[in-house]
Amino acid sequence: PEKIIIDTDPGIDDAMAIFFAMASPELELLGLTTTFGNVSVDMATQNALRLVEMSGKDIPVARGASSPWVQALLDYPDFVHGADGFGNVNLPAPKGEAIDLSAAQFIVKTVLENPHDITLIAIGPLINLALALHIEPKIAQLVNKVVIMGGTILESGNVSPIAEANIFCDPHAADKVFSADWHVHMIGLDVTHKTLMMDALQERVRDNNPMCGQFLYNAGRFYADFYKAHRGAEGCYVHDASAIAYAIDPSLFTVLNGPVRVATEGVAKGQTILKRTNYKYRERHWDNITDSSVCMGVNAEGVLALYEKAMTA
Ligand code: BDR
Ligand code: CA
Repeated sequence: PEKIIIDTDPGIDDAMAIFFAMASPELELLGLTTTFGNVSVDMATQNALRLVEMSGKDIPVARGASSPWVQALLDYPDFVHGADGFGNVNLPAPKGEAIDLSAAQFIVKTVLENPHDITLIAIGPLINLALALHIEPKIAQLVNKVVIMGGTILESGNVSPIAEANIFCDPHAADKVFSADWHVHMIGLDVTHKTLMMDALQERVRDNNPMCGQFLYNAGRFYADFYKAHRGAEGCYVHDASAIAYAIDPSLFTVLNGPVRVATEGVAKGQTILKRTNYKYRERHWDNITDSSVCMGVNAEGVLALYEKAMTA
């Protein structure tokens, strides 16, 4: 299996993604690293520990940064994920504790110990990956690949007309991650807004997954209500779990390759900008930036089938 670390801000769809990864034989989850985003980093860490405890697995959790690289911390979106990050189901305190290493230290250590073998999957704001690159730039050459849920190219944003939440929460960190000399695979709203999880699928997971089905269903009510009430969607958009599906089977997606930069200020803050053409007038911002693979199309049925298979086995 492919060795992965998931960097996360759990988060209802983060919980779905983490259990999806744990249930997939193609992936070996070496650790969870936590970030602020949907909730504070303290709550994200508690939530990650709760998920590990529920799974019965022995997976380390490393606490990450509490605020963005440059900009001020934004309000947490309790209207999307609930004040507890899990749709206000208010789980009891976890028994376990985070390890002594920070998220960035854990990422660096694990990548150095497993050269060319680790896939980093980031499903929250990107501060921990940016810090890991800052501590040890060599990791850029030593990871297998970097898969992120975040950004959007042609689809409208979900926190501003052009920005997706994970990028908007820490655009400076995101720009460092896209500009580093490693290959980023971007799973953004261009594909996650094409994949809708209906209640019926959540019900089948509830009825066939004794470990986490009921929890995901209960937490998922809040998330589904948000998408129905505020986005007019018939189900939930599959954001974070799409990054797991990509790590398992990239053939479910079509990509465009090119350098990506992130706008860090002003009206375009958080926009992910893919250079697709060579322009006559020189534009330097994308010079010498390693290409990313940006997902633009998706076999949505295939992603949902992969999720259902893993989660109801
Ligand atoms: C992203 O923002 C968060 O609300 C979700 O967990 C996902 O990572 C979608 O824009
Ligand atoms: Ca997330």
